[in-house]
Amino acid sequence: MTRFFLAALAAFAVLACGPSQDAPDAPAPAPISVSAASAAGAALTPQEITRRVAALPAPLNAANYQNGLRTFAQCRSCHQITAGAGNRVGPNLHGVYGARAAQVRGFGYSQPMRNANLTWNAATLDRFLANPRTTVPGTLMVFPGVRDANNRRDLIAYLAIESRR
Ligand code: HEC
Repeated sequence: MTRFFLAALAAFAVLACGPSQDAPDAPAPAPISVSAASAAGAALTPQEITRRVAALPAPLNAANYQNGLRTFAQCRSCHQITAGAGNRVGPNLHGVYGARAAQVRGFGYSQPMRNANLTWNAATLDRFLANPRTTVPGTLMVFPGVRDANNRRDLIAYLAIESRR
């Protein structure tokens, strides 16, 4: 009985799915399946970017993700952001948004960063990335800062989104 049921089910599946997949006007695969498979840092679809930016708190919800991605080029020599990608000169930034400072295991932070008592959110990242050395005096991050406020907003939105996937 069970065997008959499975055979019938298989036949039904072939009937239900087979022809529609071969049809020339079959709908394109839904973007959701693409983004579900993209957790390891592959590009997000434009729809996913729009949805994720809109879900961020103001002022990050007005950000230009693509400009944030471009701005992150200034960080890549020292930082990776993909989950599990490891540390470079600087710590891996996956999960940094919303985290307390100096939490990446195995990274040798400076004493000032360990004592900074900061939680990384839109406001603290904005201050730090505008001028790392005045925000955390003695930091090991040798970087002059991102001067333009819009570039910082876009970069922080990029960090927030990439932090969570
Ligand atoms: C020349 C290398 C270098 C560059 C370029 C650089 N960083 Fe860093 N970054 C570091 C180092 C080293 C640390 C650890 C600082 C410390 O311990 O004092 C750090 C720390 C950080 C932290 C704190 C991380 C934590 O776990 O608390 C953030 C956030 C950060 N960097 C973001 C950025 C962003 C965004 C950029 C690009 C705009 C950038 N950094 C560019 C080297 C760099």
